Amino acid sequence: MPIDHEFGDQHTELKLSIVEKYLKFFTTALRGKFDELWYIDAFAGTGSRTVRHEERAAGLLDAGEPERIEQRRGSARIAVDVKPPFDFIVFIESKPSYVEALQELAANHLNRRIVVIKNDANDALKSLIAANSWRSTRAVLFLDPYGMQLEWSTLEKVAATKAIDVWFLFSLAGLYRQATRELSNIDEHKRAALTRMFGSDAWEQELYPKTMREDLFDGISEEPRRRSADVAGLEAYARSRLETIFATVLKPLPLPLHKKPQRFSLFLCISNNDPKAIGLATKIGNHILKAGSSS
Ligand SMILES: C[S@@+](CC[C@H](N)C(=O)[O-])C[C@H]1O[C@@H](n2cnc3c(N)ncnc32)[C@H](O)[C@@H]1O
Repeated sequence: MPIDHEFGDQHTELKLSIVEKYLKFFTTALRGKFDELWYIDAFAGTGSRTVRHEERAAGLLDAGEPERIEQRRGSARIAVDVKPPFDFIVFIESKPSYVEALQELAANHLNRRIVVIKNDANDALKSLIAANSWRSTRAVLFLDPYGMQLEWSTLEKVAATKAIDVWFLFSLAGLYRQATRELSNIDEHKRAALTRMFGSDAWEQELYPKTMREDLFDGISEEPRRRSADVAGLEAYARSRLETIFATVLKPLPLPLHKKPQRFSLFLCISNNDPKAIGLATKIGNHILKAGSSS
């Protein structure tokens, strides 16, 4: 009996199809060129996705349909199915029942090297990266958190390998919820989350610059600090931060595609600074993202 994991909607379908296309390109293009090709899913889910189709009432010309539950492949299952196959697959997941589902997926593919790690994504990724030499290993890492769980210090370690391409579903909604319009409304909890996500408290000055006001009676005083960046500005800010550690960060795909407000930005970040590797990953990544944006 598959475990229920309902999440996302149409944008989830698009996100997964984009990642799947890149995974196929990756193993096809790099097969035989490196000792090992890895796939790492740091927020792996269960391997499947429950899609609920609501009941449709019968009409004059239409018999209607009862409620229907469909199981579709999640990212973990998609990665297992990729051909040519990855040499090694790592699933990281913190929720125990989801970990069990992933273990079942691995048990159904005993001829494959699949590891399931039950841990926080940040801790697990840091340990995994430290325990491996990245000289002759190349990997794709998929970061698909619900919100702002990913820490900057983790991304720094990933980028420093110069061997990992990262598909990162960045939660813009998480960001604009924490980075409220008025700086004074950001409590300690939100402040800490933003600093963890951006790696330092520089966001405070960069997103909420100090401005002075000259008043005839009071003289010069500081204006209340407000965020002027809108959703597009926040996305640009996130991209500029990622560009400080990755060799290349492609223009992200806004998701959902046809519905406002934008809630996510799907980034491809390339850590390898070899111009040939950057050229190839950029060409294919942009091609896949462009096809996705016109779907
Ligand atoms: C959006 S879902 C991932 C869906 C998955 N990519 C798929 O296509 O099936 C996010 C997952 O991250 C897990 N998660 C949340 N916080 C986590 C953390 N700190 N470390 C590891 N996993 C976490 C959740 O339990 C959930 O399964």
